[in-house]
Amino acid sequence: MTATPKILLETVLGKAQARPPIWIMRQAGRYLPEYRELRAAADGFLDVCYTPKLATEVTLQPLRRFDLDAAILFSDILVIPDALGQKVAFEKGEGPILDPLSKGHVSMLNPRQVLSHLQPVLETVANVRAALPADKTLIGFCGAPWTVATYMIGGKGSPDQAAARLFALREPDAFRALIDILVEASIDYLVAQFEAGVDVVQIFESWALNLDEISFANHVIAPNKRVVDGVRARVPNAPIIGFPRGAAAMVSRYAAETQVNMLGLDYSMPVGFAHQELPAGLGVQGNLDPLRLAAGGVQMEMRAREIIEGFSGRPHVFNLGHGIIPQTPIEHVARLVDIVKKG
Ligand code: CP3
Repeated sequence: MTATPKILLETVLGKAQARPPIWIMRQAGRYLPEYRELRAAADGFLDVCYTPKLATEVTLQPLRRFDLDAAILFSDILVIPDALGQKVAFEKGEGPILDPLSKGHVSMLNPRQVLSHLQPVLETVANVRAALPADKTLIGFCGAPWTVATYMIGGKGSPDQAAARLFALREPDAFRALIDILVEASIDYLVAQFEAGVDVVQIFESWALNLDEISFANHVIAPNKRVVDGVRARVPNAPIIGFPRGAAAMVSRYAAETQVNMLGLDYSMPVGFAHQELPAGLGVQGNLDPLRLAAGGVQMEMRAREIIEGFSGRPHVFNLGHGIIPQTPIEHVARLVDIVKKG
């Protein structure tokens, strides 16, 4: 008997499919009533992440509703700063709030406790693996060092990441020490996720935008490459999706230098440009504007078809070009999955 193929994993590994497999960025979350219900009954967002029973349930929720090809571990990119000992809070309606890190705080971070702190997340991976049908891919993830650093330094999300960009320029030694800590923690965390049962990992570089070419090379490409190399040194040929949101004209350099298997494209990346710019055979993931999914209807269907057509012949995983927004009607998601799977 041959093993059941995981079509999404195969696509990440370079096999183009007749129809692209699909998952949805941030597919477990507030647009699902069952998530909102579980979340309201829990003590807080991080409690959901650190309680394997709850996190397993939430990871599986979207797959009960939709015929998606992958589950993504329910956790957050900010569990790493939390594990390093920085105070992280998720305030209702406000997004994450951290005690901003200054130069003197970097040496106070505690890298040795990261994996023990994240043990419950790894237990979730094992639980999900055990519960997931054999044809579904399990995706693990981490935030890329620069993106995580922007939250650690700025204390919250910001439109231009000015605090972190200035810190990198004014305090290069402290900044380098912080990136080193995040690179090592990310490698350990992703390797542990593979050992616990994920098939693929995605590195979320959500704030790859707003950087000049020198900073992009230093803050984005170099640390992403170190994470990829570090993981593959311990998990040979580990399948990795890189998502450098806003990389724009730097996408091909990012792909060539990091050697990710697949490139996640944000929705501002023109399909035709990406197709011409990227080497034939390099896999892509994306890239429907989440607001098109929220609005739904003919415009959403036309654009989804355009994206599928535009990337046909190349390994392509259909996805949004950024996270689904909480206001998205569930019927629109069902319709999108139908279009991608059935045409
Ligand atoms: O299905 C899934 O993808 C869920 C797992 C997941 C979460 N966050 C859960 C979450 C994943 C993969 C993430 C990644 C993440 N977290 C990123 C990278 C992707 C991106 O959107 O760019 C970033 C930048 C974060 C940091 C973060 N966490 C922010 C900015 C916020 C607040 C805004 C928001 O989108 O909600 C969070 C909170 C968060 N992470 C929630 C969920 C379900 C909502 C919290 C709640 O339930 O109250």
